[in-house]
Parts: sequence; C-alpha cells; structure tokens
Amino acid sequence: GIANRLDRPVVLVGLMGVGKSTIGRRLATLLDTSFVDADEEIERAADRSISEIFEAHGEAYFRDGERRVIARLMEEDFGVIATGGGAFVDDETRSLILERGLAVWLDCDIDTLVERTGRRNTRPLLRNGNPREILTALKEKREGAYSQAQLHVMTDDGPHTETVNRILEAID
Ligand code: S3P
Repeated sequence: GIANRLDRPVVLVGLMGVGKSTIGRRLATLLDTSFVDADEEIERAADRSISEIFEAHGEAYFRDGERRVIARLMEEDFGVIATGGGAFVDDETRSLILERGLAVWLDCDIDTLVERTGRRNTRPLLRNGNPREILTALKEKREGAYSQAQLHVMTDDGPHTETVNRILEAID
C-alpha cells in the first residue's frame, strides 16, 4: 500500500482554520496510516488546554513545548501530523520539520479562514480583537515561513476532496 512508501511524516502547516485537522484525518485514513494533532499532544503532555498554557505561561513557553512535542512526534510517527498555525513559523521547529518531514502548506483565503475559525472559540490568538484583522495580519506575517514548505495546496473548496487528492498525488 501507499503507507509503506511513506518514508517520512507528512506534516501539515498553515494558519488556524485552514483545515489541517480535517484534511489530516482524511489523508491518514486514505494512506492507511496514523494521524496525530500536535496541539492535542501538547495539551495531553501539559495536562492543560492551549488557552490555559498561554494564560499561565505565555506564548514563548508554549512554543518551547510545541517544538519538543513535534520533534518527538516526527521520531515516533511516520504518519500524518497536523501542527498548530504558529509551529512552522518558529525557526527551529521549521528546520526540524523540513529536515525530517514532508511539509505541506495548507492555504486558503481570508473569508474561508474567518468562517472556519468562527465555528469554535478555542484560539487564544483570536480572542483579543477582530478575528478578520488578526488573521489578515498573521497571514501576511507568516507567509514567508509557510512558503518554505515542500508543497503548497489551497483548501478553499468544500469537502476537501481535491486537496486530499493533490497531496496524495505529490506523495505517490
Ligand atoms: C496557533 C494556532 C493554534 C494553536 C495556538 C496558536 C497559532 O493551532 O497552536 O492557539 O499561533 O497560529 P491551530 O492552527 O490548530 O488552530
């Protein structure tokens, strides 16, 4: 099967709301491999929610934990890994992912991001202000980092079938 040919983890990067978890789960199922969400692993390791970690210790502390968790996941798991939107912006984490994984930048337009992030209110970075403005600023600021990923795929289309197919073709 295709899974046997995965010689490195497929690491999904890109802004919050772009569809990393949904697409990651689907992709892993089709590849018959594992899926892991780095944010969930961080919450498990810290025994706290991401919001609580941000509140109690700040963003820099969160990024350190995130870097360690992603490093561990890439060693353990040659499946699909979804990362939090800021992970690939951290220089060290990005180098690690580019060396050991196949980085896939999932990208979409601002309207799609606003709509998708509006469904759940679990993101500390979107709490203090207008989500559209915050997302627009983050997109601009982070694009230089995201564009270093080995693969760039748009995710605006509905049920993600096209997105998943494009990734599968690139891996094959
Ligand atoms: C963040 C994105 C979140 C989470 C944290 C910080 C970011 O992950 O890691 O709230 O800096 O963009 P998602 O991209 O899965 O929402």
